[in-house]
Amino acid sequence: MKLNTKLSLCLSLVIILVLTGYGYFHVLSRRDILIRKMKVEVRSIGQTLRVPLEKISIPKEMEYVQELIDAVEEYERTLGVVVYHGGKDLVFCSRSIGDAFEPYVEKIRKAMEENLSQESFEVYHKTPVFSYAFPLKDRRGRSIGGVCVLQHTSFMEEEIRKAKWSILLTLLILVGGIVTLILLMTKHWISTPISRLMQGIQELGKGNLDFQIDLQGKDEPSQLAQAFNQMASALKKAQEKIIREANTRLELEESLRRSEKLAIIGQLASGLAHEIGTPLNIISGRAELTMKKVKGQKEAQKNLEIILLQSEKISKIIRQLLGFVRKKPPEKRRLNLPALLETTLDFLDPQIRRQKIQLYKQVEAPLSLVMGDPDQLQQVFSNLIVNAIQSMPEGGELRLTVHMEQTSKKGLEDEQRAYLVVHIEDTGVGMDRETLENIFNPFFTTKDTGTGLGLMVSQGILQDHEGWIEAESEKGKGSSFKVYLPAIQEEVCHET
Ligand SMILES: Nc1ncnc2c1ncn2[C@@H]1O[C@H](COP(=O)(O)OP(=O)(O)O)[C@@H](O)[C@H]1O
Ligand SMILES: [Mg+2]
Repeated sequence: MKLNTKLSLCLSLVIILVLTGYGYFHVLSRRDILIRKMKVEVRSIGQTLRVPLEKISIPKEMEYVQELIDAVEEYERTLGVVVYHGGKDLVFCSRSIGDAFEPYVEKIRKAMEENLSQESFEVYHKTPVFSYAFPLKDRRGRSIGGVCVLQHTSFMEEEIRKAKWSILLTLLILVGGIVTLILLMTKHWISTPISRLMQGIQELGKGNLDFQIDLQGKDEPSQLAQAFNQMASALKKAQEKIIREANTRLELEESLRRSEKLAIIGQLASGLAHEIGTPLNIISGRAELTMKKVKGQKEAQKNLEIILLQSEKISKIIRQLLGFVRKKPPEKRRLNLPALLETTLDFLDPQIRRQKIQLYKQVEAPLSLVMGDPDQLQQVFSNLIVNAIQSMPEGGELRLTVHMEQTSKKGLEDEQRAYLVVHIEDTGVGMDRETLENIFNPFFTTKDTGTGLGLMVSQGILQDHEGWIEAESEKGKGSSFKVYLPAIQEEVCHET
């Protein structure tokens, strides 16, 4: 059973009990008043009869006595009157009483004997009546006879019945009204707030921490709702913090794994470079020497060229590896990014023209200042642009934009700041998901002449500059690389 139904039932029961008690006592007191009123009425009728009957001589004025009785009988509440004269043993009575006067004469005699009026309730021919008998006296105070007045009591019962009904009706209306009022009030103040609170708790149980209970006011349920809302917000914040921390931990683990991997590669690379470097120098030195000696022998010359080309590739890999392993900490100074990009593009211009690539440049951030090592950053942009060019052997579009963005590193969402974003987009061959997941891994390449080190090196350089790189691509449609570098926000720009 619902709480408001229980409350309404209890309160209604109390109200019904109180009102019924009140009604019962009201009916009792009404009955009492009516009886007293009726007795006064009957006594005054008796008094009206007593005066003339004591003045006259009853045996001599019998007709007058009968007239008096008939006059009283016409009164609608009076059933009849019996007059008794003791001396002559004469009885006068109303027509309605007829021959059944004996019990009333008996009453009169008793009143005469006791010299006291007699009152009683009785039933006359199934009609409830009230009888009032009193003695008549002569001038000397002797009893000469008596009178008995019979009054209907049914009119009194009728009035009591009406009073009962009206009390019952009032009771019903009152109870109905009060119960409805209680139901409405408990619904408004108790049931609705509780069901809203319940809904909130269920939503919370389902994991919906954004749910807020809408209860305005200063009463207890509203305060509870406000406390609930605060709790849900606190939980949400805690949950977000946990997720953030977990992400940061994951990233830290990831970068730790990468550093471990790089450290191993570093050791391996410096060992290899040392071991391979010297024999490689000897091979290419001897090849060059032999080349001079075999002038004219085309076949031998071609083979020697291949040897030299492949040796050069090996030394390129070694150079890149060593460059990465023995990488110096960046020598940072204030740089204007667009100017740096311009220099890089100038350097790559012949290749761009050769491959019929359309170049679009757009600088949205007019003061694009960063703190950085110009050589290292130029290496990053040159790696990215060369990759883009290499992805478009049949020509295409190369788009370069520089803009400012208010953002934060992954896992450090609280630390928002201004970053300069260099966006390099191409319409080249693109990458599938698996390739995209591996591009930053050392030695991962899809090219015949590739080293698979360019993006890894670039990523390392950007990390040293407190920046990062993001890649997106779709097979057959092109790729997009975004480089984020912390911006210096200053008014004047005078360095490149
Ligand atoms: N713009 C690009 N379009 C398509 N593939 C790309 C692009 N940039 C990088 N890649 C892919 O990432 C791989 C790794 O690139 P990188 O580290 O520069 O090494 P490399 O260029 O020597 O192969 C490339 O072999 C290529 O598969
Ligand atoms: Mg490359």
